[in-house]
Amino acid sequence: MSENTATKPTKGILLAGGSGTRLHPMTQAVSKQLLPVYDKPMIFYPLSTLMLAGIRDIMIISTPADLPLFRRLLGDGADLGVTFTYREQPSPDGIAQAFIIADDWLDDSPCGLILGDNLIFADHLGKQLRTAASRPTGATVFAYEVSDPERYGVVSFAADGHALDIVEKPTRPLSNWAVTGLYFYDGRVREYARSLKPSPRGELEITDLNRLYLQNGDLHVQRLGRGCAWLDAGMPDSLMQAGQFVQTIQSRQGLLVGSPHEVAFRRGFIDAAGLESYARRMIKTELGRALMGIANAVPENDAEAA
Ligand code: G1P
Repeated sequence: MSENTATKPTKGILLAGGSGTRLHPMTQAVSKQLLPVYDKPMIFYPLSTLMLAGIRDIMIISTPADLPLFRRLLGDGADLGVTFTYREQPSPDGIAQAFIIADDWLDDSPCGLILGDNLIFADHLGKQLRTAASRPTGATVFAYEVSDPERYGVVSFAADGHALDIVEKPTRPLSNWAVTGLYFYDGRVREYARSLKPSPRGELEITDLNRLYLQNGDLHVQRLGRGCAWLDAGMPDSLMQAGQFVQTIQSRQGLLVGSPHEVAFRRGFIDAAGLESYARRMIKTELGRALMGIANAVPENDAEAA
C-alpha cells in the first residue's frame, strides 16, 4: 500500500441493486430500496449510516432501470453536503462486484460499503463507525447475534475472541454471529476484489473478500451487542418489522432514526440554513417538522444522535 493511502478520505458505496424477488409483487415496478420504512425511503437508513461514519463521497450502485429513480430522490448530494456518483450494475453478480464497478473511482482510497436494505441502530454507533472508517489498514466487519444464522455470512470465534472463519450461508453454522451488510476496507480492496473468482452460485462473494483479509490477519470483527438493532428489510415480515421499529423509537423518543439530513447537520456537512431549507420543502410531514425543530434548536452536544 502506498504511503499516502491512509491519509485519503474514506469513500462510501451504497449497493442498491438486485431484483427484490423476495418482495414481489411490491418490487416489480419499484426498487426495493425505495420502499417506505415507516416515514422514509429504505435507502435513507444505510445512507445515514455511511454519513455517520463521516463519509462524504458516495457512489450509489443500482440497476440501469432503477438508477434514475435514486438520482431523482437524492440528486447530486448538495442538500446533504455530500457528493453522489451514480453507477449501473448491469447484472447482479455479487456484492463484491461493487468494487469492480467502482474500481477507477475508488483509486486506492479506503472504502465503506453498505447494502441498501440494512438498517443499523445502536447507541454510540457513530463512534464505532468512525473508528472503523479511519483504521489505516485492514478491514472491519460487524457481527450480530441472530436466531437464523444460516441465512447470512457467519463468523466463528476462538475461545480468546479472535475470528476463526467466515462462511457464507452455512447449512450447519458454527455460531449465531451473522456478518452484517456493512463493511470497511483499506486501500487494497480493489486489488483483492479483482482476485476473486465467482462462487458456485455465480457471484463475487463479499464473504470471500472478507476471508482474504482474515487469512492475512487483517480482519477486525466488531461485535454489535444485544442493545443494538440490525434489521434487513428484504422480506415482507422484516420490512414491516423495520417500519414498526422506526415508528416505535421515533414516537417514543421524539428523535429521528435514519435521517440523512439530520446526520448531515449534526456532522457539520450542512449548516442550519441548509437543513431549514430542506425542512421547509417537507413541512407538511412530521419528518419535515422534526427537521425544522432540529435546525432551530439551541445547539447542544448531541452529535451522536440520529
Ligand atoms: C449478503 C451477504 C452475507 C451477509 C448479508 C447481510 O447476503 O452475502 O454474507 O450476511 O448480505 O445482509 P444476501 O443478502 O446476498 O443473501
